[in-house]
Amino acid sequence: MPLLEVERVSKDFGGVRAVHDVSFTLEEGELLGIMGPNGSGKTTLFNLIAGALVPDGGRIRLAGQDIAGLAPHRICARGVARTFQLVRPFAGLSALENVLVGRLYGRARGRAAGAVAEAERLLALVGLEDRAHEPAARLTFVDKKRLELARALATSPALLLLDEFLAGLNPAETASAMALVRRLVGEGITVLMVEHIVWALLDLSRRVLVLSAGEKIADGPPAAVAADPAVVDVYLGGAGGARARA
Ligand SMILES: Nc1ncnc2c1ncn2[C@@H]1O[C@H](COP(=O)(O)OP(=O)(O)O)[C@@H](O)[C@H]1O
Ligand SMILES: [Mg+2]
Repeated sequence: MPLLEVERVSKDFGGVRAVHDVSFTLEEGELLGIMGPNGSGKTTLFNLIAGALVPDGGRIRLAGQDIAGLAPHRICARGVARTFQLVRPFAGLSALENVLVGRLYGRARGRAAGAVAEAERLLALVGLEDRAHEPAARLTFVDKKRLELARALATSPALLLLDEFLAGLNPAETASAMALVRRLVGEGITVLMVEHIVWALLDLSRRVLVLSAGEKIADGPPAAVAADPAVVDVYLGGAGGARARA
């Protein structure tokens, strides 16, 4: 059974079809990359899976159980964690405290023993071991992203949703963030990753899904997807592209 099954899911905002009839499955241990231009529905799809939004139609199953429409904390308790495109740690809490909050909601909730040691391990994993007692508000943008990841990992997720995790990183930071994502997959976490940096996504993923105007237009191995005429058209076509000029 796939870990995640998204079946004909749709979400409209007024007249805008943010996500339209999207289906895909994700096997345990897989890293699936999602790409698509701005406004193609990537974040909305994450919000539907994580429970921040309720789909207008379709089904979402985690390990065979329906989760569409459940409250975010219930979906988190079942093993789905996320980072946000617009980072938002609890500003007044220290980095360590932020990570401990994650523990309260995830699959390890209720287990207090070892919580601080585990939070310290996760801070070290993301490279924040020297920032544990710093208020989150004082962290740099990149460190806030790292903190969000540590907080998400503190929920002991089966499925991790990363929304533009590489955005705003310099080349060295991008390389280390990519290595970190690979390591998480190696530790058995299934990852669904939305990324604007196409080369990184193609490099990390064995399978890539492409959204355009809310619809899935491609789903397959990176090389095949990158060569798909529909995908090329979305990225190179349109108003400024070759087609418009032809
Ligand atoms: N909360 C919302 N209210 C109204 N429209 C929204 C909302 N969230 C997203 N949209 C619209 O839905 C479409 C998809 O947005 P989004 O999922 O954020 O795209 P992406 O993450 O791919 O850039 C866009 O047209 C966006 O303006
Ligand atoms: Mg987005």
